[in-house]
Amino acid sequence: MKKVYIETYGCQMNVNDTEVIFAILSDAGYERTEVMEEADLVMANTCSIRDNAEQRIWGRIEVFHQLRKSRSGVLVGIVGCMAERLKDKLLDTHKVDLVVGPDAYRSLPKLLAAVTPDSPQIDVLLSRSETYADITPVRTDRNGISAFISIMRGCNNVCSYCVVPYTRGAERSRDAHTIVREACDVYARGYKEVTLLGQNVDSYLWKSASETVNFAGLLERVADIAPDLRVRFATSHPKDISDEVIAVMASRPNICKHIHLPVQSGSSRMLELMRRKYDREWYLERVAAIRRAMPDCGLTTDVIAGFCSETLEDHAQTLSLMEEVGFDWAFMFAYSDRPGTLANRAMQDDVPAAEKNRRLNEIIELQNRKSLERYRAQIGRTLEVLVEGPSKRDPSQLCGRASNNMMCVFPASGRSKGTYTVVKVIDCTSATLICE
Ligand code: SAH
Ligand code: SF4
Ligand code: F3S
Repeated sequence: MKKVYIETYGCQMNVNDTEVIFAILSDAGYERTEVMEEADLVMANTCSIRDNAEQRIWGRIEVFHQLRKSRSGVLVGIVGCMAERLKDKLLDTHKVDLVVGPDAYRSLPKLLAAVTPDSPQIDVLLSRSETYADITPVRTDRNGISAFISIMRGCNNVCSYCVVPYTRGAERSRDAHTIVREACDVYARGYKEVTLLGQNVDSYLWKSASETVNFAGLLERVADIAPDLRVRFATSHPKDISDEVIAVMASRPNICKHIHLPVQSGSSRMLELMRRKYDREWYLERVAAIRRAMPDCGLTTDVIAGFCSETLEDHAQTLSLMEEVGFDWAFMFAYSDRPGTLANRAMQDDVPAAEKNRRLNEIIELQNRKSLERYRAQIGRTLEVLVEGPSKRDPSQLCGRASNNMMCVFPASGRSKGTYTVVKVIDCTSATLICE
């Protein structure tokens, strides 16, 4: 058996794609290794979302190239979003042997068979139908408790700042039966939590001759597999999250009460320029609807600071929205101009870098304060957690997530990984609940 080593960057969907790649390569005679130096094939599954994500990967390509020079026969492959975006430009560096886009992983065995030092191989064709529905991913999580399942690929939204529609192609939904089967399969192997993944899960829609399944319907089917199988999902789009989905969540105790609902900006003018197709009022109404149905639902978000033409007034609107909603935590980014996007072609990236970072720091500071408030509000409560294993900081303690996705640490006292336990919150930081 030959050995393949893969580093994964970017989002959870890339993590899942790497698991699909391991499955495809295992049929081609490659087994997985976590030691780069012993691999015959070294790959990076890459991300293009922000310029700094790509810069980091260029650094890794250098490292792989050195390895390739010192050990003959080692192949280097770049796959994923950056492969799709840069195509031949990667081959032109003469530092990689394989360039494969997100919809072309089935061709990996064929490309590997054809590759020689003088003829690198490339396949970056996007597909309208590929969902890898029939491939059973080789799970790479370490705990054996929580599995990720892709339910759709691509994105049809064309937010003006975003490269994903160009790197991942058009949106398509995976056969609902294969999703349910995969969830049943991981449950049978001892997993206790599945997370359904897509760029915009609310627009999931799968049709066959006899049935149509939307996201609410899919959630129900997966939740009904077993009462002790937790179901999570990401990411929801504020324009699409429906009352039906909220009602299904509220009706099933095993659907975790957490929604990742990226707002991007609190200014309706910015949201319009970003082509998000909702405004501040719509977003706040969706949050209100979620909280009416599920008062304890965890809410997290993504925020971009310093998008094209953002004024201090727009920025203040983002801060005030964050103040008003009170997210549990957030991913916060300075806007990064991406070649080929609508913003790149038609707008000016006119907020200076230093000012973007100043605004970003204000956003981060506010969020840290809000996180602490939200976590403090849990003190005194009892929560049901799924035990994931020893706590990273203190191995004598265990850790696990509450339904609302907050991480809890608590004394081990005989409990084991993969079981549910009820804990009482006695203290917290801005990212962890300390429990007994
Ligand atoms: N599909 C998800 C997000 C996918 S990308 C959604 O629509 O919400 C993850 C996050 O990266 C986005 O929510 C956004 O906050 C951020 N992001 C995307 N493009 C970016 C860019 N050009 N600059 C800075 N942040 C960006
Ligand atoms: Fe990008 Fe918008 Fe699609 Fe999310 S919804 S992946 S931000 S284009
Ligand atoms: Fe990055 Fe591609 Fe995911 S650009 S965030 S790896 S879809």
